[in-house]
Amino acid sequence: MSINSSISAANLLGCLSLFAYILTLLPSCLRTSFPTFKKAKFIAKVLKYRRQLGILAFLVALGHVVLIVIKRNVDLFDLQTYSISVEGTASLIIFALLAFTSNDWSVKKMKKNWRRLHQLTYTAIFLLFWHIQEKMSEHWNFLTPIELICMSIITALFLKRRWLEYQKEYAQQSQKQII
Ligand code: HEM
Repeated sequence: MSINSSISAANLLGCLSLFAYILTLLPSCLRTSFPTFKKAKFIAKVLKYRRQLGILAFLVALGHVVLIVIKRNVDLFDLQTYSISVEGTASLIIFALLAFTSNDWSVKKMKKNWRRLHQLTYTAIFLLFWHIQEKMSEHWNFLTPIELICMSIITALFLKRRWLEYQKEYAQQSQKQII
């Protein structure tokens, strides 16, 4: 397969949104998978700006979609437009829900449901993997392999994190049963 060297503004925005999104996931995935990262300054900085990064990821993804819509001359009010990319639309809805509730007021109002809603961010990992694979198959540009490598790394870190959390929970429950 040949790699196209030119990239459109729409693709660049898609890529930037993806990287901002990956950055929001990185601190918790790295800290759980590799405890040595707990004190890293870089992680603390990213954590500090995680909400802003999430909002940025949403706004830039919106720009990506607007440019795709303009390029393909499709009608935003036609439901068929969204069937161009079901997985992309689902990711955009998740990004929007997270961006609109990334504030102290929502955390207070939604209580436990806030945590539940924000777990949706992990669903977007798989949706976006699917999105890039499907939309870019047969016409990769030089950004596509970088995106797929970064997505593979964050997916592996996320799965490792979930596995460690599961093991910890299991150990705690076994200990409770012994007591
Ligand atoms: C959170 C939302 C989204 C993100 C983060 C995202 C991200 C991306 C990325 C990273 C690419 C690959 C760019 C490349 O390798 O050059 C891409 C391609 C594409 N996306 Fe999205 N996307 C999103 C939502 C959508 C939606 C809602 C649509 C359509 C309604 C859409 C339509 C497309 C299309 C058609 C392509 C292929 C462009 C081409 O053929 O060059 N995306 N997107």
